Order: sequence, then C-alpha cells, then structure tokens
Amino acid sequence: MTSPNPQVSIIVSTYNESQNIISILKSIRESMPTGILTETIVVDDNSPDGTGRIVEEYVQGLKRFAENTINVIHRKTRDGLSSAILSGIQNARADTIVVMDSDFSHPPQAIPRMLEALKQYQCDLVVASRYMRGGGTRGWTLKRKMLSKSATLIAKIGLRVKLSDPMSGFFAFKKHIINGLSFDALGYKFLLELLVKTDRKITVKEIPYIFENRRLGKSKLDASLYETSSEYLQAVWRLYKSKKMKESSERRGSVKFFSKAARFFTVGASGFGVNYLVSMLFASGLADIWYVHANAFGIVASLSTNFILNKIWTFEDVDFGAKRTLSQYGRFAAFSSLGAAVQLGTVYWLVDAHNISYPLALFTAIAVAASSNFVLNKKLTFREKIWG
Ligand code: GDD
Ligand code: MN
Repeated sequence: MTSPNPQVSIIVSTYNESQNIISILKSIRESMPTGILTETIVVDDNSPDGTGRIVEEYVQGLKRFAENTINVIHRKTRDGLSSAILSGIQNARADTIVVMDSDFSHPPQAIPRMLEALKQYQCDLVVASRYMRGGGTRGWTLKRKMLSKSATLIAKIGLRVKLSDPMSGFFAFKKHIINGLSFDALGYKFLLELLVKTDRKITVKEIPYIFENRRLGKSKLDASLYETSSEYLQAVWRLYKSKKMKESSERRGSVKFFSKAARFFTVGASGFGVNYLVSMLFASGLADIWYVHANAFGIVASLSTNFILNKIWTFEDVDFGAKRTLSQYGRFAAFSSLGAAVQLGTVYWLVDAHNISYPLALFTAIAVAASSNFVLNKKLTFREKIWG
C-alpha cells in the first residue's frame, strides 16, 4: 500500500552523516507546518559510517501513515552531491521540492518561509541566500569565505546569473520547470545548472538565511578543496559552452554568417596594424635588421595574431589541443598566401586586361581575396558550414 501523494518533497543528501541525520530529520518534521503532506527523501551514497542503515532503522520505528514519510535512496557508490540531488528529484512525488543539506547548515526553520514565498510570489524557484541583506555565514574561515565569494563572482560574470547566491545548496522549486531538461549533475552546484538550463524563463525569488557551519562531522567540500574547485570550474565551463551553443543555434544563419564575416575583416584590419608596427620596430631601434627580414617578421606576427583572434573570437573555437591547433594554423597560413596570390592576380587581370583604374582594381581585388579567404577558412580551417 502506498500513502497518498505528498505535497512537498524534501531532498536531503548524505555522505557520512551518522551524527546529524536523525536529528535533522526530526528537526525537519518539527519545522513543517501542520496539514502539509511531506515526504523526505534521503539520498545516501553507501556511507561507510552506516548513515543509510541508521535511517532505515529509524524509519522502521515510525508510524505508517504519518503526515511526514521518509524514503531512503541507497546509491551503490559515491557520485557527488549534484547527482545525489538529481536522483532525489527524479524520485520525488510532489511538485514542490525542497533541497537542503543534512548537517544543520541549512536551518529547517527556514523551510516554511521558502514554501510561503513560492506561493506568495507565485514563483517557480525560491533560493535561500547568504549574500543578501539579512543573510550571512557563521563559523567560516577566511579562506572558505574568499573561495565562496570568488566562485559566486565567476558564476555571475561567466554565466550571467543575476542572483546574489547562485551557489546556494538550499532552495525550493516547482518540479515541472525541469521537464524536458537534461542535467550533467557534475560537482556540487546543482542550483547553478538549474538556473542556466532554465535560462531565465522562470521566476526566481531570494530570501535571506544564515549558513551555520556544521558542528558535527566533516565538510566534504573542505576535505577535497582542490578537486572541488577544479570540478567547479569544469562544471561552469560546460555550462558556459552549452549556453553559447544554445544561443547561437537560436540565431539565424544569415545573421551568423555576416557577423562572423564582420569579425573576420576586423581581425584582418588589426593584422594590418600588427604587421606595420612589427615591421617598423624590427627595422628600427629594436633589432636594426635588414628591412626585408623585418617585414618577414611583421608578416609572421600578424599571421599569428590574426589566427589566434579568428580562432577564439570569430569562430569561437577554444579547443587548443596541439595537433588541432597546428594543423589549423597551417591551413590558415596557406589560405593567407593563397589570398595574396589571388589579390595580385586579380589586380593584374583587371588593370591589364580590362583597363580598369588601379585604385578600383585594388579595392576589388582586396574584397575578392578577403571574402574568399573568409569562406575558405570558415569551411576548411574551422570546419564550419559556410552558411550559418
Ligand atoms: N549522497 C551524497 N553524495 N551526499 C553528499 C555527497 C555525495 O557525494 N557529498 C556531500 N554530500 C552531502 C553531505 O552529507 C551534506 O549533507 C551535504 O551534501 C553538503 O555537504 P558538505 O560537505 O557539508 O558541504 P559544505 O557544507 O562544505 O557545502 C555546502 O555549502 C555550499 C555553499 O558554500 C553545500 O550546501 C553546497 O551545496 C553549497 O554550495
Ligand atoms: Mn556542510
């Protein structure tokens, strides 16, 4: 027999939380307003300290059809907080979901306020924030404070999230907003991925709370700060790329073609500057070498800056694998020489065979060479479709 569907699912992930888990479950139950059917889902990753078994035993002793039920998901191996949260969400039966830690850093007393805010503002997501007026952290080392702030800053700038605390692990949301989305669930930051993947199409409200450092047990994040940080950067990077890809697939092919062409020509113009400057510098005080050699340096320098700028900016390719980059550079250089040859040929042909004035012929030749260069590099160096 199953109990009636709950109205709220509370997801609590655990790894080695034997000292906290029973008291947090009790505290959650005491904090919930009466009359709301609640299921609490504990997602345990086979904790060596027996957290999963302890909860199982505790649940056995509870009344069967209480207002608050507790379910345990036992995962076989440790797979990180985000993916634990995702498992919890997939198993949740209510449409209103609360996500929190099990170590009292997230005060269960704040849950009613979060549920109230969901209703009152009719929003899809309520985030409990440390970094707004009324919120804060207690018991943190300076190092932890700085890391948290920098991670927040990276998310705000890199992913353009608008919240004061996108790193929060304490939030409530309507399950239906994630319909059709798929998650990487890498690392610690489930909320961040939720924010990016729902892409400002949802309404969000923040409410303040004080994060209390845990009294019992150990922080998993502090224990492996290096892995956590690099995992974090990786997760942000993946989100950034998926965001970029989505944005660019939404733009029209013609818009993309012409905006890339404009970037390509801008880079070309900057190359002219680099070429001139380097050629002058090498022939003057700096190196004082033969002007032909100096000009060769100028050409190589501008070829290189053009290549790097076009790779990163024009064609948005940041994969700098050695083999890939070298072969791209080779093609790019070849097409540039080809472009020069095309330009010379065109000028000669227009002036000599068609009696067109030199300035007009030159202009036309540069336009022909630059455009064919753009298309060739787009297609053959950076392997893109021509249109789009
Ligand atoms: N199932 C499972 N698997 N649970 C995990 C795992 C895991 O691999 N790693 C951590 N947890 C659980 C812990 O048992 C705890 O309940 C919760 O996730 C948070 O872990 P802590 O180790 O206590 O993390 P923290 O306090 O350092 O980090 C908290 O604060 C950050 C903000 O600075 C978390 O709430 C983060 O989500 C939050 O971003
Ligand atoms: Mn903690």
